[in-house]
Amino acid sequence: MSATASDSIMETGTFVNCFLLVISLVIIPVNGGYDKERDALLKGTFPQDFIWSSATAAYQIEGAWNVSDKGPSVWDTLAHQGRVYNQDTGDVACDSYHKYPEDVALMKQMGLKYYRFSISWPRIFPTGEQQDGVNQDGVRYYNALINELIANDIQPMVTLFHWDLPQVLQDRYGGFLNNHTTNTTVIHDLFGDYARFCYQNFGDRVKYWITFNEPWITSWLGYGVGNFAPQHNEPAEGQYKAAHNIILSHAKAYHIYDDEFRAAQNGQVGITLNCDWGTPKTPADADAAIRYIQFSMGWFAHPIFKNGDYPEVMKTTMARKAQEEGRTTSRLPEFTPEQKLSISGTGDFFGLNHYTTVEVTDACCTPIENPNYDTDKDVGTGHAPDWPRAASSWLYVVPWGIRNLLGFIKEEYGDPEIYVTENGRSDHDQDPAIMMDMERICYYMMYTNEVMKASNMDNVKVKAYTAWSLLDNFEWLSGYSERFGLHYVDFNDPTRTRYPKASSVFFKQLVRNNGYPEGSEFTKYVENMWYFCHNTTEAEVNGYTGGASQISSLFSLFLAIPMMIAYSLIA
Ligand code: BGC
Repeated sequence: MSATASDSIMETGTFVNCFLLVISLVIIPVNGGYDKERDALLKGTFPQDFIWSSATAAYQIEGAWNVSDKGPSVWDTLAHQGRVYNQDTGDVACDSYHKYPEDVALMKQMGLKYYRFSISWPRIFPTGEQQDGVNQDGVRYYNALINELIANDIQPMVTLFHWDLPQVLQDRYGGFLNNHTTNTTVIHDLFGDYARFCYQNFGDRVKYWITFNEPWITSWLGYGVGNFAPQHNEPAEGQYKAAHNIILSHAKAYHIYDDEFRAAQNGQVGITLNCDWGTPKTPADADAAIRYIQFSMGWFAHPIFKNGDYPEVMKTTMARKAQEEGRTTSRLPEFTPEQKLSISGTGDFFGLNHYTTVEVTDACCTPIENPNYDTDKDVGTGHAPDWPRAASSWLYVVPWGIRNLLGFIKEEYGDPEIYVTENGRSDHDQDPAIMMDMERICYYMMYTNEVMKASNMDNVKVKAYTAWSLLDNFEWLSGYSERFGLHYVDFNDPTRTRYPKASSVFFKQLVRNNGYPEGSEFTKYVENMWYFCHNTTEAEVNGYTGGASQISSLFSLFLAIPMMIAYSLIA
């Protein structure tokens, strides 16, 4: 795509802006959920060195599940058992294993200078253990991807673990359940070996490392509920044991970098935690909302970014539960003093994945028969009736939530540098495909503006914003039925052709403008869409059917004109 082609969207859009403004004033009702002051557009730009990125993960895009010597991961196993919607698997996915140069070209077209992807542990060590052999083709693949990125002036940000644990490690050692309370736990050492190998082989070019992506998911869904891989169902304790091991494995990988590589490679190591903002339903639910956040993000962030130990409220709540349940010890394991020391301060940056907000109510303290992590928190969660929804059942669009969460992290964890490592919105997979993805444009517009408020008004040190995702991909248990991509992927086409959605063109302009500068064509365009975006979402609330709402169709029609002109220029 030539720069002029994509630029013309915003310029051609100027006359359309007038239409939009008139239409929004005439036919759009005032949105009950829209707060004029809180939700106002902030004009201005992010700091000069702000990082704009997009993200993917190995199992979700690579395919090539058994190419060369790659070993199976726990997600290969789950998918091959037919546990995913529509029996989808990641066997081919976006075929990025073969098509990575095209992916890099898409990033280049968007003007992205960073890319967050993950390495598949079993593609490097087929059994998870270095002593059993290294898959040289896997090493070749990641070297080729990294080199392609660097050649195109795109910095790699690498996640070491995005859920695809080698199946053999699960079978041999119980994966992250392995020996969770001792200092000699095998899994820590194995993760350390794997991290060391990656630093050794790729660290000359990779300067940003993320040890774990969303350990909350692996712990609770993988080892507690067991609907995610590796499908271990032990909701009273499994998640606490797994989390304990993950935190220690993270610390191990951090120290290996610190001791053996930092001086020569000069990179950074962090962890990515997921968190929904929890807003109290009534003032009386304020403590419950904090408890909700401490039990989710705090579970990992408190040890790593504060004092090496779990949040106080988790420890006291779990101690009380132990008493009620007649146990002599808490289901929440304890770190030794040495472990606490080694965990505390092991984050050069705070990686945050955020998508949505929940309304929290206090549900203290009804003892129940089968205790589990969900009931341990003593909270109820719900959603306000005027919050619009995306395709994923859990994803409600509440832009101001991200600003509150960023502020919370600043206050709670001593003002760390925060990298937003994922944020995005899903559409349904439907026919015809949603290429004029206006709801996604609105989402990115509203959420990035709230991030800019956190940065410029609240002085939060937000250093990066990463769109999830570069491509439509394998959305875990939902398979290919939910699409998060800036680019559409045709999963029925053996060549997995990629097509830019309107949101990729919008995002390119956002990156180029580094925000919403006063007086720019882009900002004028956004200004005119602003009211529409907030009201479009209300239309969805009132008539959400899983497809485009009436108003958003109308909205798309007008915006489609400049977008189509842009596309014809791209083609
Ligand atoms: C994960 C991604 C996932 C996205 C949308 C995050 O929890 O890191 O792998 O696709 O959310 O569900």
